[in-house]
Amino acid sequence: MSTAARRPTDGPDGGTSVTETVIRLEDVGKSYGNVRALHGINLDVRQGEVTCVLGDNGAGKSTLIKIMAGLHDYTEGRMLVHGQVTHFGSPRQALDAGIATVYQDLALAPLMSVWRNFFLGKELHGPLGMLRVAQMKQIADSELRKMGIVIPDLDRPVGALSGGQRQCVAIARAIYFGAKVIILDEPTAALGVKQSGVVLKYIVKARDAGLGVVFITHNPHHAFLVGNRFVVLKLGEVSLEAKRDHITLEQLTGEMAGGDELTALEHELRDLHP
Ligand SMILES: Nc1ncnc2c1ncn2[C@@H]1O[C@H](COP(=O)(O)OP(=O)(O)O)[C@@H](O)[C@H]1O
Ligand SMILES: [Mg+2]
Repeated sequence: MSTAARRPTDGPDGGTSVTETVIRLEDVGKSYGNVRALHGINLDVRQGEVTCVLGDNGAGKSTLIKIMAGLHDYTEGRMLVHGQVTHFGSPRQALDAGIATVYQDLALAPLMSVWRNFFLGKELHGPLGMLRVAQMKQIADSELRKMGIVIPDLDRPVGALSGGQRQCVAIARAIYFGAKVIILDEPTAALGVKQSGVVLKYIVKARDAGLGVVFITHNPHHAFLVGNRFVVLKLGEVSLEAKRDHITLEQLTGEMAGGDELTALEHELRDLHP
């Protein structure tokens, strides 16, 4: 079934590897009634790469995610998933295609234990419908440890974990249940430096485990630490697209900050206070 484009590309270590394009957007656009939220978006999401999508508020980041996550359909262009033109009718269909999305306001139940959350909706049952508690705990523990997350007591409610750990549990769950792509909507936006580090490390581990990661952020520093390619959105269009080797942090920061607009503002402020 898969006719996905395979092409050589620079691996994360600078070596050459072959990665599979899981999602390809070609001239994709989306209008909400009269509001054109996205226009002319070209984007590839490949396995083993972190694709960073940056942009200011209202740039269209969430709209872009929602198209890939099956929440909204696009109204222009086309989306290929594993090489096939795809219109998702629901988030369930996106999940079945291996595309998992971790939203900022996580779909975790804060009062439930870590292991219950890990298996939420996918519980393991034994004969007579009994929950296989010990087995689920053991799997959750080993999956989290595999990714370098040690949570001493998996019976603790998820709400008692740090923000970074919570993000990691949600990501580990997506990986365990077979995601090929994980989309992370501003996972570090509400976190401090240390907690952001926890999540960024985890993003790298997910990438090195062969997943395609779409990392939405408005922090160019976070993006530059982990990204293989960068797409900056402005008013619903791509204003910059670059592979890591072809861009510096300064350029990315300048593009995000709206370098020209800042210079203009600087002049205006200077004129106000000569
Ligand atoms: N459900 C909606 N109905 C109408 N307009 C929307 C809807 N969602 C987003 N928009 C508009 O689309 C544009 C992009 O929004 P969004 O994708 O949320 O940007 P971002 O996530 O980058 O802040 C904005 O102008 C926003 O007002
Ligand atoms: Mg948003």
